[in-house]
Amino acid sequence: MKDDVTSREERIENLKGMGCSRKRVEDARFTQGKGNYVDDVKLDGMLFGDFVRSPYAHARIKNIETAAALEVPGVLAVLTAADLEPLGLHWMPTLAGDKQMVLADGKVLFQGQEVAFVVAEDRYAAADGIEAVEVEYEELEVLVDPFKALASDVVLREDTVDETGKPTDGAHGPRKHPNHIFTWEAGDKGPTFEVIDAAEVVAEETMYYHRTHPCPLETCGCVASMDKVNGKLTLWGTFQAPHAIRTIVSLISGLEEHNIRVISPDIGGGFGNKVGAYPGYVCSVVASIVTGKPVKWIEDRMDNLMTTAFARDYWMKGRISATKEGKITGLHCHVTADHGGFDACADPTKFPAGFMNICTGSYDIPTAFLEVDGVYTNKAPGGVSYRCSFRVTEAVYFIERMIEVLAIKLNMDAAELRRINFIRKEQFPYTAALGWEYDSGDYHTAWDKALKTVDYDGLRAEQAQRVEDFKAGKTRKLMGIGLSFFTEIVGAGPVKNCDILGLGMFDSCEIRIHPTGSAIARLGTISQGQGHATTFAQILASEIGLPADSITIEEGDTDTAPYGLGTYGSRSTPVAGAATAMAGRKIRAKAQMIAAYLLEVHDDDVEFDVDRFVVKGAPERFKTMKEIAFASYNQAIPGIEPGLEAVSYYDPPNMTYPFGAYVCVMDIDVDTGVTDIRRFYALDDCGTRINPMVIEGQVHGGLTEALAVALGQEIAYDDMGNVKTGTLMDFFLPTAWEVPNYETDFTVTPSPHHPIGAKGVGESPHVGGVPCFSNAVQDAFRAFGNTHTNMPHDHWRIWKTANELGLHG
Ligand code: CDP
Repeated sequence: MKDDVTSREERIENLKGMGCSRKRVEDARFTQGKGNYVDDVKLDGMLFGDFVRSPYAHARIKNIETAAALEVPGVLAVLTAADLEPLGLHWMPTLAGDKQMVLADGKVLFQGQEVAFVVAEDRYAAADGIEAVEVEYEELEVLVDPFKALASDVVLREDTVDETGKPTDGAHGPRKHPNHIFTWEAGDKGPTFEVIDAAEVVAEETMYYHRTHPCPLETCGCVASMDKVNGKLTLWGTFQAPHAIRTIVSLISGLEEHNIRVISPDIGGGFGNKVGAYPGYVCSVVASIVTGKPVKWIEDRMDNLMTTAFARDYWMKGRISATKEGKITGLHCHVTADHGGFDACADPTKFPAGFMNICTGSYDIPTAFLEVDGVYTNKAPGGVSYRCSFRVTEAVYFIERMIEVLAIKLNMDAAELRRINFIRKEQFPYTAALGWEYDSGDYHTAWDKALKTVDYDGLRAEQAQRVEDFKAGKTRKLMGIGLSFFTEIVGAGPVKNCDILGLGMFDSCEIRIHPTGSAIARLGTISQGQGHATTFAQILASEIGLPADSITIEEGDTDTAPYGLGTYGSRSTPVAGAATAMAGRKIRAKAQMIAAYLLEVHDDDVEFDVDRFVVKGAPERFKTMKEIAFASYNQAIPGIEPGLEAVSYYDPPNMTYPFGAYVCVMDIDVDTGVTDIRRFYALDDCGTRINPMVIEGQVHGGLTEALAVALGQEIAYDDMGNVKTGTLMDFFLPTAWEVPNYETDFTVTPSPHHPIGAKGVGESPHVGGVPCFSNAVQDAFRAFGNTHTNMPHDHWRIWKTANELGLHG
């Protein structure tokens, strides 16, 4: 940081504020192995807990024998549901209004389910103890297919029926069947069906958005430490929402909330996997209370993949109607949502299928109807937003595939079909048929820029030639052009619409300016690699005129940070970023009064300029923010309290709606199914850009996770409920080897309601990327009669598509 700057340009540069590609301040420690993750927490006398897990997907537990395990050297305790029951902790509430077994209570519902918790002096002794626990199971019929689950006489959850066997009501209304969780509807059924029935053209498709997993590099874990002398519980953990976890722990343990301190230290990726509450947290807390010692629980990779929150698993059936010219008139979507053994989705309370009701996408569709049926099966619980905002990934995949299917039916170019149906710039704010009010957008400009940059017409000509060459036997490679245009919905949310377990989804920032003109700001969010310490300091630098390098950003400690709902669904910038700007403005308002006093003029006679307040019309008379900060601590100013602090709790008036236009050019070898991504162009519009370099990093990461999901990543089960992809040998995690060079681009359409016009960005590339990669694969086969094939498009499935289309001769 330079102190001797004079020109206005230098002063702006010195701040490293909004719009600057400031280097990430976090990276110094991350790249030198100095991060502080949960597994780095080591406390005196700390014990280690680990789970006995079920090998079966559905079985009754006849007996659990723990005596031999207690004889294993180093093993101190073995907890079962019977031990937790007197405490009322053998089941726990889920974020979706359901309840979930903490430890198997009479039966198990998925492979890997937690059956007993072994507490030992170290991880090795715990592993030996697990081996010595004997569990007698009686296998039951397994249901891994949600359609079969809805037709079966087998009742998976005995707590979902009354004594006569009739299904009881669930958290979201009546159940149609004991294995049915909820039906959720949005839009107008009658009018939509009428429009579709009368339409000139109707395209129909059923698509499966397969089950996958966020697979953060760091698995889930915690350290619970109960200080029995002071009655205070400290819980370190991989929590994406530390305050919410504190409240949940208080509610289910009975400990008073002020006696619970939750700390999320560095987190190695979350992507939705670390939002919910897991049995490991409850068992560690109980074990620490029982033993009086700190207890650590850290998943291994298989635990994480097989048992913690999965993503997607949506069967989506769509009908889309249009005129012969391609103007869309109606959309109907029915989803069968597989939630596994417990509904442990992490969605705002009123939205049991998240924001799936944004499935009209970026298009001006006059009438639409969505219905979602949630179903229990013998799979792991969850249903989290894997790098997306509450099921928007599913919604965007659905509409972007339906557009392609409609284009085939109309024999139209899919880019042109999108163009004639986009919501027009002058229609914003735009209320969609399923209820959302989109804040701002300029889709045509973004689309035209994208298509021009990639020379779309040239690509189509090249593709047509390739088809000719293929038919003439000159090549065995087809060319696919993947298109997607997405609108995200991020920044949950207005408290009136969005809560989790009754906690309104606002967020917060508290700022303290130190006498020498540096500052600390604490937020209710928690970075998991997004670079908040870098970018939130930039927002503040521009708002309060102190260099970003002089501002510490702190998150994740409930004893110090103001209450917030955490980081997921790209909500940090739209909500906590707004709180940061608003708190900064409070600081600036007080600074203005101090400056006016020091300059002996009226408050209205000074104005803010970069890093100072200047007397209007007399630029040589000013007080810098540094001088003002010092004055706030060392001068008695009439009518003004000492110090310079502010806090803001921000309830956003609306979500923000970032959007983007993506194009993927792919070659496919029909004989091997191998894909070669030649080009990937991603244009993102996230409103005002805080840090272009961080945005680019977010886009690269999101696209890579999109590539993974579209081209291979899957949690697959066999008919017995065995997880077939429970290790990184089978679960596809792309490396630099598989990832293409991404071209990034942008337009800027600020959010009209966000204090700095910013929208979220972290999840956009994933949301838009998955349909783009998938559409590229499908488009390669369009000339040969393909309409739709399900993801993941791994080499085998692509080969199979080619084979079924008769391309192997
Ligand atoms: O909630 P989460 O942090 O995952 O997502 P986000 O709000 O989209 O922010 C991801 C990162 O991108 C943060 O460091 C943001 O400050 C940054 N960002 C930005 O520089 N400009 C934007 N308009 C949006 C996000």
